[in-house]
Amino acid sequence: MHVSMVVNGKRYEAEVEPRMFLSDLLRDEFGLTGTKIGCDTGQCGSCVVMLNGVSVKSCMVLAVQANGADIQTIEGVAQNGVLNSLQEGFHEKASVQCGFCTPGMIMSMTDLLGRNSTPGEKEIRTWLHGNLCRCTGYQNVVGAVQYAVKKNNSHVKMIIDTPCKQMYENRVKLLIAGEVDRLVEEHYNKDAVVVSFDFIVRGHDALKVHFRNFVKWVALKEVISTDHFVETENSFFYEATAVTNYGVGRVYDAYYLKEGKIDYHFTGIIK
Ligand code: FES
Ligand code: FES
Repeated sequence: MHVSMVVNGKRYEAEVEPRMFLSDLLRDEFGLTGTKIGCDTGQCGSCVVMLNGVSVKSCMVLAVQANGADIQTIEGVAQNGVLNSLQEGFHEKASVQCGFCTPGMIMSMTDLLGRNSTPGEKEIRTWLHGNLCRCTGYQNVVGAVQYAVKKNNSHVKMIIDTPCKQMYENRVKLLIAGEVDRLVEEHYNKDAVVVSFDFIVRGHDALKVHFRNFVKWVALKEVISTDHFVETENSFFYEATAVTNYGVGRVYDAYYLKEGKIDYHFTGIIK
């Protein structure tokens, strides 16, 4: 029988026997071996993929049942070589030993986070019931999912675990909300300076005008990612990808703090 389906955004076609399972089709015909086969009887969860937006055990779905479907496998989770927050969580929280169960776990948790962006530990553990792990255990896997939940729900797409990161997240929140006066009063010293290549602004009144114009014309809408965050006791630096009125762009910012507030702030665009 002829089957045709979109897998990870790409169309695949094959001639299959009616008894062939989706797991075998993905691995043997399409070469997508990230999907693992552990038990082949629907018990271990290592073969989980997303089928039309819902997680399924692909060893329990006939290839012909997936005809015309939209499928996502573990190979389609990272975008442009960048791990998503769940994958990053598994890496950060050492949630992988042999890794055999990991693709299925990530696909099951992808389904969970698609339904509930802030699941508690109990819900995460309930959703892990269908995924067996023989070597790492579940504690670190729960930690990985909690890592992703924290990161996904952060305004700056980063784990907020230091005072500088908290200040950064709060700045972004206030900028998105247009709360310019609070931004300046809560985070900048009275004679603080904000500098770029084409302007220099000093003092609370001038900073309020500057950020009012920023909110009006540039309009930060969302931070998609934050990278290279470096901090010392009285300074921090990062690069970020942000959505503004001008589209998606890369920026960098460096801050020097005095008595817990920003004293000097250099900001620039990465071309
Ligand atoms: S291989 Fe499908 S559930 Fe085990
Ligand atoms: S990491 Fe080995 S089975 Fe889970």
